[in-house]
Amino acid sequence: MKVIGNTSLAENTAKWLGADFYPVLERTFADGELCPRFEASGNPAMGQTAAIILQQHRNENINAYLMNYFLVLNAAKDAGFSRIYACMPYFAYSRQHKQYLPNQPVSALTVARTLEHLGADAFITVTAHEPSSLKEIFTVPSINLSSIAALSDCVARKPEFADAVIVAPDDGAEDMARALASLLGNRKYTAFEKKRDARTGEITMTPRNVELLAGKSAIIIDDMVSGGGTMVETARACSHHGSTRIASLFTHPILCGNALEKLRACCDEIVATNTIESEVSKADVSPLLAQALKELEKK
Ligand code: R5P
Repeated sequence: MKVIGNTSLAENTAKWLGADFYPVLERTFADGELCPRFEASGNPAMGQTAAIILQQHRNENINAYLMNYFLVLNAAKDAGFSRIYACMPYFAYSRQHKQYLPNQPVSALTVARTLEHLGADAFITVTAHEPSSLKEIFTVPSINLSSIAALSDCVARKPEFADAVIVAPDDGAEDMARALASLLGNRKYTAFEKKRDARTGEITMTPRNVELLAGKSAIIIDDMVSGGGTMVETARACSHHGSTRIASLFTHPILCGNALEKLRACCDEIVATNTIESEVSKADVSPLLAQALKELEKK
């Protein structure tokens, strides 16, 4: 297997696999047109498998990221790889996995169809926004990797969070909270109620089981932090109800604009994975990706 990628996450995954790494050189013309190219010596592609691990850079436009992905996938197909595994550490556009309002696209389905059309034989991601949607939108095998163990390792031995209650900002993150609570040793957990207005995007948060929080530390867990509103509102509610210290754990540090500064103002510890490289990417998902790719190769 050859690993085609644009960052150290891809390179490290290749090392775990003992596979050749083909770096992607990213180039943008003045008008925004992208022209990526992966570097490979000779013509090693024929009949081989490629894993494409392209990461969205922090602050990179998500649309440019996707276009770059499609172009690299197309180039790999044209180069003659016989099987291509598309690894998208953060599944771009996965929040729109269904129609929330009439006449909207199911954007995640559009991305899935395009990847398949361009030659993806399997799809791998980490902590999909709605894991059950993957089987509905992909016709090729799709794999959702859990980052909970990697995130958990980063706080498990911190004495200041030994009494922590696990908090999910909304019902969508409850499974993550339950899994983290179990990994940390049967901790108590709660899921707040969050409503987002489908038209304005405005959030209203209703804390639940707040009696658990008083005098204890809290670990808030979510799949992603984008603008930071959800995490900040949750942290404020925890403090308001008596949490003594707050850790913020999330898989995808999208961290648009000043989201990280906003988080730092209300959280004592911030831990994310390196599905997107950031200052708070302390949990490494490359071993997870390598393991999933190994298992796909065996099939
Ligand atoms: C929403 O359902 C997601 O799980 C996240 O909570 C949300 O996307 C985070 O976005 P933001 O940081 O902009 O509040």
